[in-house]
Amino acid sequence: MSGTTPSLAERMSHIGLSPTMKGTIAAERLRREGVDVVDLGAGEPDFPTPAHITAAAHKALDANFTKYTANMGTLELREAIGYRYREDYGVSYAPDEVIAAAGGKQALYHAAMTIFNPGDEVITHVPGWPTLIEQIKLAGATPVVVRTSAAEGFALRADALLAAVTPRTRAIIVNSPGNPTGALISESEARTLAKEAARLGLWVIVDLCYEQLVYDHVPHNLPKIFGDAMREKLVLCGSASKGYAMTGWRCGWVLGPTAVVSGCNALQSHESSNVNSITQKAAVAALTGPQDCVAEMRAIYIQRRNQVLEWLREEPRLVCPVPQGAFYLFPSIEAFLSPAGAPTSQAFTDGLLAKEHVVVTPAEAFESTGAFRLSYATSLERLREGVTRIIRYARSLPLGK
Ligand SMILES: Cc1ncc(COP(=O)(O)O)c(C=O)c1O
Repeated sequence: MSGTTPSLAERMSHIGLSPTMKGTIAAERLRREGVDVVDLGAGEPDFPTPAHITAAAHKALDANFTKYTANMGTLELREAIGYRYREDYGVSYAPDEVIAAAGGKQALYHAAMTIFNPGDEVITHVPGWPTLIEQIKLAGATPVVVRTSAAEGFALRADALLAAVTPRTRAIIVNSPGNPTGALISESEARTLAKEAARLGLWVIVDLCYEQLVYDHVPHNLPKIFGDAMREKLVLCGSASKGYAMTGWRCGWVLGPTAVVSGCNALQSHESSNVNSITQKAAVAALTGPQDCVAEMRAIYIQRRNQVLEWLREEPRLVCPVPQGAFYLFPSIEAFLSPAGAPTSQAFTDGLLAKEHVVVTPAEAFESTGAFRLSYATSLERLREGVTRIIRYARSLPLGK
């Protein structure tokens, strides 16, 4: 084999491996060497998939439900998705306005490929999940990022998003609850945004992948608010991954106008076909079965969020807004960055992994600086150990030039 790097398609020069996965790979290597790694990098629930969901999968397998299904998902699953949104939000989507995809990621990607043109601008917000930006680029459009601020708890404001609109703007993508900040768009901001997007004729894509994980009883009915104002240009993307602890099963969905769903269906038919048949049966059980499991997991996340915030306050220079959703904290480490020690968040998290064997994800992975993402989707015991090590490491850093 020759040692030269083969030349790849031009589009590959714009994308790399999802940066949130890099920490996980490094942790895996250390673990293989027998090191006690505290992994607070994971973007997935630590809970097992609830038993009634896995039981449905066992049943599907025993019944040999193992063949191709309709490309867009079984009618049963699409009805189940519609049922969940009707129950949770009071909105109504018919089966031909719903398609199941291999995770929220694929749902969002297909929506992007169906709607964005080369030359379009698409507005989204940062600190934010990097895949949204990469998908805009893969569709040939230009991402326009609006920065939310730690001082405002990373709250998403309609006026900030709307200030970025130009004649080339095609769409606005909102992720709420957001990764990595756990911040929400409030219902009143959503109402303003929906009204203006309708007036301007813009598409709105809402990434609702953390929708079941909203805390403190904050009202968050985005499907209804956006739907009432602009349903003909509204695309909702959701997932079974986070709320039902089903990340490995790969099931997400798009709800939207039939033209968008048909576009996604055409793409999917040439790309991956239907979602795994057994997963589809499991997702039906998740969406139509008892929802207590979601409430139980949510209660544990809230307890962990509060506890970790309290532990972080042991070092007052680690300032952290209180997130209202998802399972992440995004504390500021500005006070610990300096040329003499760790000049960037990336250097801080690299040092934290090397010296204290803690995995967190640097702000740079989310188009931001001066912070890291800590996932509290792990046990309180590991969280306590992780925060102790983080504080010890931060305090050990030389400050100054
Ligand atoms: C903001 C956000 N949206 C969507 C997803 C997609 O998740 P999945 O493809 O597992 O449904 C993720 C996963 O990390 C995410 O963080």
